[in-house]
Amino acid sequence: MGKVSKLKLAVLISGGGSNLQAIIDACNAADYPAEIVLVFSNQLDAGGLERGRKAGIRAEAIPHKGYPGGREAYDAAVSTLIEESGADLVVLAGYLRLVSESFVTRWKDRLINIHPSLLPSFKGLHVHQAALDAGVKFAGCTVHYVVPEVDSGPIIAQAVVSVLPGDDAGKLAQRILKQEHRIYPQVIRWIAEGRVSVNDKGIVTVADAPQADFAEINPALEPG
Ligand code: GRF
Repeated sequence: MGKVSKLKLAVLISGGGSNLQAIIDACNAADYPAEIVLVFSNQLDAGGLERGRKAGIRAEAIPHKGYPGGREAYDAAVSTLIEESGADLVVLAGYLRLVSESFVTRWKDRLINIHPSLLPSFKGLHVHQAALDAGVKFAGCTVHYVVPEVDSGPIIAQAVVSVLPGDDAGKLAQRILKQEHRIYPQVIRWIAEGRVSVNDKGIVTVADAPQADFAEINPALEPG
């Protein structure tokens, strides 16, 4: 049997890396069409670096603090590292750092992010509290292509969770995170299978994905 070539991923993190872990786990399935070639962090102590190393993946960190030349120079160094790794797709997974416009241009259409709200609502930070403060009854998460404007860009997938009585930001974040771990590997699979396209209005369509990928769910009723 010929070796099928997989989509190569660079996953950029700043923290614990639970989304990274979900992607690592997905990649462990023989029939998953992607593999991680680089884990990168702007924080030397990011827990996700260890998750990468444990999985036998190259994991590198460059502290952004005090980096000579500022954001542009820093992002150029990150781009070089990604290029050297041979990655086809750059996956931001809790990378808590604004990327420069030249970085976005360099990786145009090959750069995705996950954000813990139903965009375009609640961009930026502290979004779980913002959703609670707004009194919304549904919250969720979004995977999108990255454009220079923060938390914008063509939406590829979203998952919805109910806001429940007694929720605080932490509880809501936990339930949303569970959905993040479901949709991020799914989106990467779609991209690897060449199913995702964006039209000139920035609307994404996913071709020939199984109906089940779009099943309506009510996570509030799901066990666990
Ligand atoms: C996630 O909620 C993600 O949506 C946001 O940062 C968090 C990262 O969590 N951008 P983890 O490091 O993947 O556990």
